[in-house]
Amino acid sequence: MSCVVVVGTQWGDEGKGKVVDLLTRQADMVVRFQGGNNAGHTLVVGGEKFILHLIPSGILHADKHCLIGNGVVLDLEVLREEVEALRKRGVKIDAENFGVSERAHLILPYHRRLDQAREARKGKTSIGTTGRGIGPCYEDKVARRGIRVADLLDPEVFRTKVEENLKEKNVLFRELLQVDPMAPEELLEARPSLADFIRPFVCNVSRKIEEALGQGKNILFEGAQGTHLDVDHGTYPFVTSSNPVAGSVCIGAGIGPTKINSVVGIVKAYTTRVGSGPFPTELDDDIGRTLREKGGEFGATTGRPRRCGWLDAVVLRDSARLNGLTHLALTKLDVLTGQKKIKICRAYRYQGEVVEEMPACLKVLESCQPVYEEWDGWEEPLRDVKKRDDLPRQAQDYLKRIEELVGVPIGIVSVGPDRDETLIMEGPSFF
Ligand code: IMP
Repeated sequence: MSCVVVVGTQWGDEGKGKVVDLLTRQADMVVRFQGGNNAGHTLVVGGEKFILHLIPSGILHADKHCLIGNGVVLDLEVLREEVEALRKRGVKIDAENFGVSERAHLILPYHRRLDQAREARKGKTSIGTTGRGIGPCYEDKVARRGIRVADLLDPEVFRTKVEENLKEKNVLFRELLQVDPMAPEELLEARPSLADFIRPFVCNVSRKIEEALGQGKNILFEGAQGTHLDVDHGTYPFVTSSNPVAGSVCIGAGIGPTKINSVVGIVKAYTTRVGSGPFPTELDDDIGRTLREKGGEFGATTGRPRRCGWLDAVVLRDSARLNGLTHLALTKLDVLTGQKKIKICRAYRYQGEVVEEMPACLKVLESCQPVYEEWDGWEEPLRDVKKRDDLPRQAQDYLKRIEELVGVPIGIVSVGPDRDETLIMEGPSFF
């Protein structure tokens, strides 16, 4: 019996999907605990490509139980499309292998409209959100006017809440954002079919996890986004509206902190970021463009090109502390092949002073200059390498230096997109 949490250590898109898929093999249950369909994993299984935004990729294994916890914000239309597309391709999804928390908050059409209209109004100063209504939904949750899965199942409760919420939203739409208001009927008419779709899956996720632990099962908690997009610990306000850090499992899935055994932090061998916000090691040059092309750095959710830069150990050290990382899983090492020199940012310089942690003040962070150390690159392709010791010496040095700078051992190294292009270190037991 064991609980493992997987989190992103940078600004998301670290390649969590592949590592989650790998660890899923040892898990009986896979649980999402925060975020929503702003996330996206592309998976290649048996030559077929799957893009999943909400359902854990564990669903592709018939014997795994997948759950969506209360901390996730749920767009039921997106979930329904995902379920239908998977079923069409022969994937089993029913109440036996999939469940959704009755307490999860719903992303409704007015959340999407608000997200997009606010971003459009901000213009150049926008956050660069995914436009999926994530922020407005979490806002309503904290403001205690959110609508949860359990509310959707009760027509009267749903009607009252929708009518009440739209009174406020429509003032915003008309007066401030200058977009069309929304009639309650739009939502009320969609309710019965959405309720019928979700009803079989609705459950108490916290209880399901407790039962599974009681039966000695292994549970994998799958984080979305990354630590530096965390609304508390990230580069606020250029963050998402949930907590992608490991501690958020306790709230977003309903388990106590004493139940967590290990926390695996996914680190891309360089850094990327989508959307706006500070990024000290960003490369606006040929190296940045090469990383984007070789690494296929375009968003799985929005298709936007990702900003690319060197690895930032300040970002990673913060993540090690904030998540209590027990292991690192380094992805996309093969993308660095062919770089003559590889840089690692070990600290920042601000007004002549060396800064070792991410400053909270955005203005300070924006003026920080990376302090780089430079390492030799390698020319050899890595995709056929099976052991860490068989990597080119320069790649081994790079891994060793990352471990030293971050203070956490690397347990997994990914050298290509396929499942078998992965080195698993001897020693660490994730479950
Ligand atoms: P939101 O989560 O749609 O509100 O977007 C807020 C910020 O988080 C934007 O900069 C997005 O680009 C970023 N973001 C949200 N989800 C992801 C993700 O899964 N990967 C990378 N960035 C993300």
